[in-house]
Amino acid sequence: MKRDLIGIEDLREEEIRAILERAMVYKRMRNENRMSSELRGKTVALVFEKPSTRTRVSFEAGIHEMGGRPIFLSSQELQLSRGETIADTARTLSRYVHCIIARVSSHPNLVELAKYSSVPVINALSPLQHPCQTLADLLTIQEYKRKLEGLKICWVGDGNNVCNSLMLACAMLGIHFSLACPKGYEPREEILGEAKTKAEAKGSGLEIHHDPRLAVEGADVVYTDVFVSMGMEGERERRLLDFKGFQVNSELLSHAKGDVIFMHCLPAHRGEEVTDEVMDGPRSVVFDQAENRLHAQKAVLAMLLG
Ligand code: CP
Ligand code: NVA
Repeated sequence: MKRDLIGIEDLREEEIRAILERAMVYKRMRNENRMSSELRGKTVALVFEKPSTRTRVSFEAGIHEMGGRPIFLSSQELQLSRGETIADTARTLSRYVHCIIARVSSHPNLVELAKYSSVPVINALSPLQHPCQTLADLLTIQEYKRKLEGLKICWVGDGNNVCNSLMLACAMLGIHFSLACPKGYEPREEILGEAKTKAEAKGSGLEIHHDPRLAVEGADVVYTDVFVSMGMEGERERRLLDFKGFQVNSELLSHAKGDVIFMHCLPAHRGEEVTDEVMDGPRSVVFDQAENRLHAQKAVLAMLLG
């Protein structure tokens, strides 16, 4: 049976831990200039409906380094753009490639793609989740904090796709998750419900605040993302007003633990959700996070295609 990675909850807790361990091995190997070859003879399609720097390049480089061949396909260049159905596209691509990595504007379309594909489908960002980002984030946190369980991660900003995947993973792994967002920008009800159930089962804390200072108190990690995600450009003015007071700056960070790390999935809109001072400051680990996409995704590919 092929396996997909659509939401982070598609992985069991022990699989997440195994991916992180494997990712560390890939990282060490790469630093020693040793490459793996698990994808030799394998072709992977990257179907992207939205722009990308990190996800695209880290997947393409990673697949290449594992001996495989990536094929980047902008959805505009596929017959999808002329009305071919998702189901027919999935069935066709499955005859050529060993895996489909997709960045989509509609989460149900990704589910449809996975349903009709006979090869694994990996979510490279949908409006609902960004599981590959979460795996790289956990890897980064583990590297800096030497553990995961018992930590407190504080999300400041929009309860969006990146937040959803991270919140679910924290619930699964015994990490306390505290979120600060303006009223009306909480994560979607069904995701929040699922996270609460998982958090209760594991004993992880899960708090929603509307005051960022309260939320960051005692945090080991402070994380933010853009206030205006891709596809929401029409809401830009409204959002920038609503998110006033939710910027991560040095003052806000001073309410967290002294050894707090600052994280951002990137791309950042400097001056909006985060200041230059924080982005470029000593607490920021954002480029380690970006690098870790490469190692974490190699581990995902090895698991799904191995
Ligand atoms: N963090 C992230 O997914 O970045 P890209 O949009 O550049 O891929
Ligand atoms: N929340 C952002 C993440 C970009 C990587 C977006 O969806 O645009």
